[in-house]
Amino acid sequence: MENILCIGAGYVGGPTMAVIAKHCPEYRVEVVDINAERIAAWRTDDLPIYEPGLLEVVREARGRNLFFETDVDAAIAPADIIFVSVNTPTKTFGEGAGQAADLQYWERTARQIARCSTSPKIVVEKSTLPVRTAEAMEAILHSAASEVQFDVVSNPEFLAEGTAIADLENPDRVLIGGHPTASGQRAVEAIADIYRHWVPEERILTTNLWSSELSKLTANAFLAQRISSINAVSALCECSGADVREVARAVGMDRRIGPNFLRAGVGFGGSCFRKDILNLVYLCRQYGLSEAADYWQQVVNMNDYRKRRIVRTMIGAMYNTLAGKRIAVLGFAFKPGTSDTRDTPALTICKLLLDENATLAITDPRALDNARKDLADAPRCEFTDDPYEAVQGAHALILTTGWPEYAALDYRRVHESMAHPAFLFDGCNLLDHAALAEIGFRVYPIGAPPLLPA
Ligand SMILES: NC(=O)c1ccc[n+]([C@@H]2O[C@H](COP(=O)([O-])OP(=O)(O)OC[C@H]3O[C@@H](n4cnc5c(N)ncnc54)[C@H](O)[C@@H]3O)[C@@H](O)[C@H]2O)c1
Repeated sequence: MENILCIGAGYVGGPTMAVIAKHCPEYRVEVVDINAERIAAWRTDDLPIYEPGLLEVVREARGRNLFFETDVDAAIAPADIIFVSVNTPTKTFGEGAGQAADLQYWERTARQIARCSTSPKIVVEKSTLPVRTAEAMEAILHSAASEVQFDVVSNPEFLAEGTAIADLENPDRVLIGGHPTASGQRAVEAIADIYRHWVPEERILTTNLWSSELSKLTANAFLAQRISSINAVSALCECSGADVREVARAVGMDRRIGPNFLRAGVGFGGSCFRKDILNLVYLCRQYGLSEAADYWQQVVNMNDYRKRRIVRTMIGAMYNTLAGKRIAVLGFAFKPGTSDTRDTPALTICKLLLDENATLAITDPRALDNARKDLADAPRCEFTDDPYEAVQGAHALILTTGWPEYAALDYRRVHESMAHPAFLFDGCNLLDHAALAEIGFRVYPIGAPPLLPA
């Protein structure tokens, strides 16, 4: 039996290892983390993260060949393959602050592996990392006193939160990058063998190490760039009478372009897009490629603009003052299907509204605990899991996360309970705007002129 270890039991490490353990019963899979609370939760049915279908997969493998532990040192020695899935957030201090990846967790893990290893190991970069990080990893590993053989392989994760299990079960591709040496290629094959248990051969892609590292940053940059592109167009639609949904449909039907990630809204969020693009910008600058850096920076700038723009629209629509007005914020997660609020557009929008001295009533079906933490120091915020309570007496409602349950609300009841005129800003273009205008709302979609009752 081969021993797989994963260091980091977060949104990536937990679900990824659960799916590997499910499909590869002959491997022993152990997941470790320095966060003991997280590990304790992985051992119960109240998992530390919410993902549809995750609990079923964990239950199938846990205790059979999937284990969650806190002793990282002890877990390293017997492992044959070590996935490193620790967090790589944006650096908040010193050189490169606000752009570069903070690699302190990564480096600490590398040193720990070097210190605790007594037998050959394949070390797999699962975290998203700057291109050429493997070089630093190898330098640290090979600086250890012992003569242990290490092979470093890049295997970035492409799952999306909210659909992690479906993405892992049926990936578009699995990317594995390694050195062209005999032992590098053996390591790549060892990782490919794991995925071959359930992923068709033609979807297992092998490349050199640097291409693999850079492909992950590039994929996220391209996805975010599509959102920023349609959001740039949405601003023009609001001014010109075009409707961004019609434009996106017409454009997306072109097979060269395709329909995905063309939905205009309040901007992208989540723990990865912003961080990975800024990382790309920083890398370009490091190599002296200032034009390439400026190009990618603009994707982030456009995203920031889209959030500011909807708040400006609200101020303009509501007679140039939000002071003392109650605003219901529907949705706080960075997208539907998750409790994750990292870099959520809702937080920026709430802060901008609070700057205008508005009072907020925030609701979300899954992310309310995180919302409370994110706004712990903010004044004038109420939190409720009942959207009808949030809208009670509100001058305006803004939809910031496109949870399907918000499309199913009784909007006549909502309208009756709000202050009048009742303003509705649909930051996700989720709702039936004509029907809402019919009820009496003053409706402001994204990327289309407002619908105002006669
Ligand atoms: N979240 C996503 O959707 C997603 C998707 C693809 C790739 N990624 C990348 O995967 C990596 C992990 O992301 P995540 O969302 O799972 O992060 P996370 O913060 O949810 O999990 C990381 C875990 O690593 C643990 N950790 C940190 N240092 C450690 C150490 N020295 N020893 C043991 N454990 C340690 C932390 O306690 C934490 O629980 C990041 O590089 C991220 O960019 C994330």
